[in-house]
Amino acid sequence: METGREKFGSNMAVILAMAGSAVGLGNIWRFPYMVGECGGATFILAYIIFGILISLPLFFAESIIGRRGRSNSFGSLRKLAPGTPWKWVGLATIIGCFIIISYYSVVGGWSIDYLLRSCIGGFSIEDPESTISLFDKMSSSVWEPIICHTLFLGATALIVKFGIKKGIESFTKKTMPLLFLLMIAIAVYSLCLPGAGEGVRYLVKFNLSDLNPTTLAYALGQSFFSMSLGVGSILIYSSYMSGDDNIGKTGLFTMIFDTLFALIAAFAIMPAVFSAGLEPDGGPSLVFSTLPYVFAKMGANAMFLSRIITIFFFLAILCAAITSSISLFEVVASFLVEELGWKRKKASIISFVGQWTLGVLCSLSFGVLGNFKIMGRTIFSFCDSFTSNFVMTLGALAFAIFVGWKMSKEDVRDEFTNHGTKNCKIFNTVYFITKFVVPVMIVTIFVTNLVL
Ligand code: TRP
Repeated sequence: METGREKFGSNMAVILAMAGSAVGLGNIWRFPYMVGECGGATFILAYIIFGILISLPLFFAESIIGRRGRSNSFGSLRKLAPGTPWKWVGLATIIGCFIIISYYSVVGGWSIDYLLRSCIGGFSIEDPESTISLFDKMSSSVWEPIICHTLFLGATALIVKFGIKKGIESFTKKTMPLLFLLMIAIAVYSLCLPGAGEGVRYLVKFNLSDLNPTTLAYALGQSFFSMSLGVGSILIYSSYMSGDDNIGKTGLFTMIFDTLFALIAAFAIMPAVFSAGLEPDGGPSLVFSTLPYVFAKMGANAMFLSRIITIFFFLAILCAAITSSISLFEVVASFLVEELGWKRKKASIISFVGQWTLGVLCSLSFGVLGNFKIMGRTIFSFCDSFTSNFVMTLGALAFAIFVGWKMSKEDVRDEFTNHGTKNCKIFNTVYFITKFVVPVMIVTIFVTNLVL
């Protein structure tokens, strides 16, 4: 029954691919600005607690569905609950994934743009306004971001076209160690800057007044986004795991890597921001508009070093973004291959065209389409908030309910423990959390945030 379907080569390859999916723009671009907007340490603490208590069991839930169903989200849910509407839930998550990758690759495109810029000219150090206006000018122009978006999505499609082993596995195996080294180098540089202590203090100072439902909802959303949960990325990668691979270990390592990267990124970015005397709440453009200025200014006496660090930084963002975008792309491509019987090449090309088109609209919403609003938001911001506040949360809830209430406990145990050989001691606790704690917490936070 498992024949004919590609698999990852080893448990290590699975962990690297999962960590590659988890560590992405969410860690380096989204986490630092969310920390800056939501009050530093309080947000970080909430994020870590949610990671352990909610995201990790959800990771297991998605993994169990994927490996037991041995198919894409739609196919797995159809196989595990034949004749029920569950498969449509699977389809909805695939559509969510389609939307995420469209705007994700716009930001991925910006990182290509900034990488090229840092290689050729560097950035102005006169004042922060000049790098902010550079970002505004770049993102609101028509062609430049679209070309970069095309390159980013094209590279993603190409890797996915080569399949699991030759494409995804071999790419993530090479990129993840590089990414780790780059981030460490940047954090060390950043922490050595004069005045960096202020940024570190901001990241560790716990302030009870920052603790409110919005902070909690954002921390939960960030945890889901960062761990790639709710739309089937973990599910599809798990469907390529071998029966001997350990779901518990894979989830735990993925979470540790993911949290570590988010923290390293925050400790690389905040000290630099404070050191340059800037505010931490720069929002989504923080890493693009503030950091180039910070690095350029700090390096006024050491031009070469600062140029290298800037290049490292955007290269790191790009590596992290691509290893994540392939896990989003694979969700859609595998659906087209398995459900419509298309060849991988055709599936990759057609998904590319669809996602490219929506991505172009997202990109243009920073400029010429800026006045076109959906429910008061630009196309980009609508796609982002619709998927992170809605699709991912409900998708995650659905996966938890499926494993906790729809599948039989015996099947769940069988899959999680590899037929009773692994993770047996923690099974009952994990099962209880998935069945009761996770759904209650998600619903509470979701509703509180909706009402407030
Ligand atoms: N986790 C990735 C990041 O942090 C992005 C990502 C990949 C993702 N697959 C996902 C986000 C699925 C949500 C759902 O950048």
